Amino acid sequence: MTEFKPNSIDKVEVDKGNVTWRTPSNIALVKYWGKEGVQIPKNPSISFTLHNCATITTLEFQKKGTFSDNFEFEFYFEEKIKESFKPKIESFFKRIEEFCPYLKAYKFIIKSENTFPHSSGIASSASGMGALALCVMQLEKEIYPKISEDYFYKKASFLARLGSGSASRSIKGKLVVWGESDAIPESSNLYGIPFPFEVHDNFKEYCDTILLVDKGQKQVSSTVGHNLMIDHPYAERRFQQANENLAKISEILQNGDVKSFIKLVEEEALALHAMMLTSTPSFILMKPNTLEIINRIWKYRNETDSAICFTLDAGANVHVLYPKSEEETIKSFIQNELAAFCEKEQYIHDFIGNGSERK
Ligand code: PMV
Repeated sequence: MTEFKPNSIDKVEVDKGNVTWRTPSNIALVKYWGKEGVQIPKNPSISFTLHNCATITTLEFQKKGTFSDNFEFEFYFEEKIKESFKPKIESFFKRIEEFCPYLKAYKFIIKSENTFPHSSGIASSASGMGALALCVMQLEKEIYPKISEDYFYKKASFLARLGSGSASRSIKGKLVVWGESDAIPESSNLYGIPFPFEVHDNFKEYCDTILLVDKGQKQVSSTVGHNLMIDHPYAERRFQQANENLAKISEILQNGDVKSFIKLVEEEALALHAMMLTSTPSFILMKPNTLEIINRIWKYRNETDSAICFTLDAGANVHVLYPKSEEETIKSFIQNELAAFCEKEQYIHDFIGNGSERK
């Protein structure tokens, strides 16, 4: 990990400035659930990077007049000062300080906003931590202009991971692998890498419509959730399954086998929820409408031979995945048959994107 520690410098030459990054959310196809140490995943995962659901963060920085041994920052969310978000950012800064020793030389104003509705049940930690990590790296790039592009993105993902594991997969698009896997050369537990093989045309343009079944607060925080895998009776088998599925999906993404893709992606979603159902304490994160939607997707697929499938996060919302070639028909199916099971009939159309962008 010393590769991510910059050379020490006596004097930080950059006085002030501001940087803005837009970072999308991502949806895992093979799920990360269970970690050890400081955000080291128990199994590798892979995700589609989204496009529309994103966080836009601006980091304004100004060198402190006199040195102080603390992090100085203000945080605004959607234009309002948000004291309640500060502890999370403070612990993120503490965690990354050894890799970003310049942080205490500055006062920061951080301004963040999401493109998706605030309480939609969509986790914003991946896009939020991703955008903040990229802003920090942009500052690092100003201080150390010689860092390479490769180092910039790897370290951004490395820092994002220390904020929220899945954030490591939101830096680049379109498919990102995080966690060591024999099937993926150069994969790492420390940062995400773009899927290294040529992707079959069948998977190049995919859509994800997020059905907002329950817009409430997450019932199980991600820290509590991952800890449920410690001493879980099925943990070892689950980690093995995820490893096997990562190797399988790598083949599938290259050979274009849509039927196997559907089977694997749905198995992963249900395995994630099965882990929660069988942990102590246990959690039932699906709602009756989640099940209703799943059954309707299955019925539609049987009747039409569509490539529609679903995946789930650690919550009740359903991500409906489908190839762009079916966009029109599936959007009408969603509007006519699935919207009724969403809170206030709300859903968000999204698609696979290219990852974060500097603004
Ligand atoms: O990044 P975290 O710690 O919030 O964990 C995310 C876990 C899942 O979203 C349930 C699965 C995943 O791989 O994204």
